Amino acid sequence: MTTDWPYPRIVAHRGGGSLAPENTLAAIETGVRLGHRMIEFDVKLAQDGQIFLLHDDTLDRTSNGWGVAGDLPWEKLVTLDAGNWYSTAFRGEKLPLLSEVADRCAQHGLMANIEIKPTTGTEEETGKVVASAARLLWEGQPVPPLLSSFSVEALAAAQQAVPELPRGLLLDEWDEDWQTLTTQLACVSLHINHQALTQARVEALKAAGLRILVYTVNSPERARLLLSWGVDCICTDRIDLMGADFT
Ligand code: G3P
Ligand code: MG
Repeated sequence: MTTDWPYPRIVAHRGGGSLAPENTLAAIETGVRLGHRMIEFDVKLAQDGQIFLLHDDTLDRTSNGWGVAGDLPWEKLVTLDAGNWYSTAFRGEKLPLLSEVADRCAQHGLMANIEIKPTTGTEEETGKVVASAARLLWEGQPVPPLLSSFSVEALAAAQQAVPELPRGLLLDEWDEDWQTLTTQLACVSLHINHQALTQARVEALKAAGLRILVYTVNSPERARLLLSWGVDCICTDRIDLMGADFT
């Protein structure tokens, strides 16, 4: 596997940005159709340890289920509809397993940013289980998945379980401790809300040897400015406005 920074400048947020129900196989296919080469998606554990895609702790917003998703076993989660909330055109879409997404990535030559999004209270377990599974699922692929998380505990567990997989620390706000945290976690990148960045902060991060991914940038003009500052990756919901050929 290539261990340098092999990732493209544009990353499709939650699989297909705002053009499809988030974190589904349909979202990934939408991104592929528009020429995208990398996707970001959120993963967590079912009660029985299966790894599946979902952003929120609860099922209510993006499926026809309700309550804490991590309290249910996969055999229940797999019966839910994860597409109809977005549009009837996506009725019947399922919550995907990480293994299904890995297969889809291999099939399309897609790169992946796996955001570890633990159910509250399962941070360490989720970091360990996701990193271990990702190593096996991406074995033999040319580019390793980039792991990221807002949870320092989850990233530390991922680091301990599979140190060779690249890691990025997620921040929603600027944190003066960024250098200590990214050094302790041996991160290759910082993933940050673009509104928390300034050109001076980009320069400080680059001087420390970090790559920078920003979310969620939906304006091409803003994306161009951030890239001109030295940002490496733009994570976007507007995968139609910022395709793989974005310049
Ligand atoms: O990984 C970038 C971005 O997805 C982080 O925020 O809440 O969309 O998962 P969120
Ligand atoms: Mg995410």
